[in-house]
Amino acid sequence: MIDRRKFIKSVSLLAGTLPFVKPLNFSKFAKTNVEKPIVISTWDFGLPANEEAWKVLSSGGRALDAVEAGVKVPEGDPNVNTVGYGGLPDRDGHVTLDACIMDENFRCGSVMFLEGIKHPISVARAVMEKTPHIIFAGDGALQFALQNGFKEENLLTPESEAAWKEWLKTGVYKPWEKKDWDNKDSHDTIGMIAIDSNGNLSGACTTSGLKFKMHGRVGDSPVIGAALYVDNDYGAAVSTGVGEEVIRISGAHTVVELMRNGYSPADACKGAVDRIIKINKDKAKELQVGFLALNKFGEYGSYAIQPEFQYAVYSNKEKNVLKNSISHF
Ligand code: GLY
Repeated sequence: MIDRRKFIKSVSLLAGTLPFVKPLNFSKFAKTNVEKPIVISTWDFGLPANEEAWKVLSSGGRALDAVEAGVKVPEGDPNVNTVGYGGLPDRDGHVTLDACIMDENFRCGSVMFLEGIKHPISVARAVMEKTPHIIFAGDGALQFALQNGFKEENLLTPESEAAWKEWLKTGVYKPWEKKDWDNKDSHDTIGMIAIDSNGNLSGACTTSGLKFKMHGRVGDSPVIGAALYVDNDYGAAVSTGVGEEVIRISGAHTVVELMRNGYSPADACKGAVDRIIKINKDKAKELQVGFLALNKFGEYGSYAIQPEFQYAVYSNKEKNVLKNSISHF
């Protein structure tokens, strides 16, 4: 039986963690000066990714095409060791990739635990467009990719292999460590969201996941509603950081729901981070999670647990600016 007093207490506690805001009016007459197109993405490797996405957006292209083209840049860059080719392997030496994509019509596709394909985001898009399904995993995802013309290749670069062999010397399994988010070379997921000149939203997310993770571990990045969510009437959100905590609160979906209820993008991101902090109590000091959101009016914002989270913005007003997120600590 539901304890009514407990329920009311928990609702008011939750409300206490969220800022009080006047709901936005999402009717189509609410704003005429929508900033579009615009693309935003996580971390400093979002800068060259935005540049590529902007080529699509500035020529009147679709947000879906822009985010796919954008995140393929770090996927193909061997110097980005948390995404695609050159990603750090799991503790058994396998580079296993997770990615998802979502368009303006609630269509979505995802791959998880995929090996040997440089652009998992394009496989995720093929899942969305060529099958009635949403998620393909592991060997099945690879088989699907090969059947659809993708080429299998070795994604473990000599640098990533050397880093893994160095780690093996001690091999202590500590999945998330503060030094990882302090280290500017050790960022994780690229999440990208965009609004195109027709006012349509889309998003993409791709990663090699936690470095030296347990074989088979999958984070939030291929989970629609966790790492990425798009509701074309209201907004889109992406996450970065410790995927387990993002999945626990259906992070990106939570952010979009808060925007749908009138929160600004930054306040909506804060609302989701506050939940993670409340659940984790003191352990929150050991975690990094950041959310990035864009609403239907072209307004954007972010909020992270730790101060190190940065994101890149490209619009007609701002040409590829890197911004520091607001953070809890
Ligand atoms: N956010 C990426 C991961 O946890 O795998």
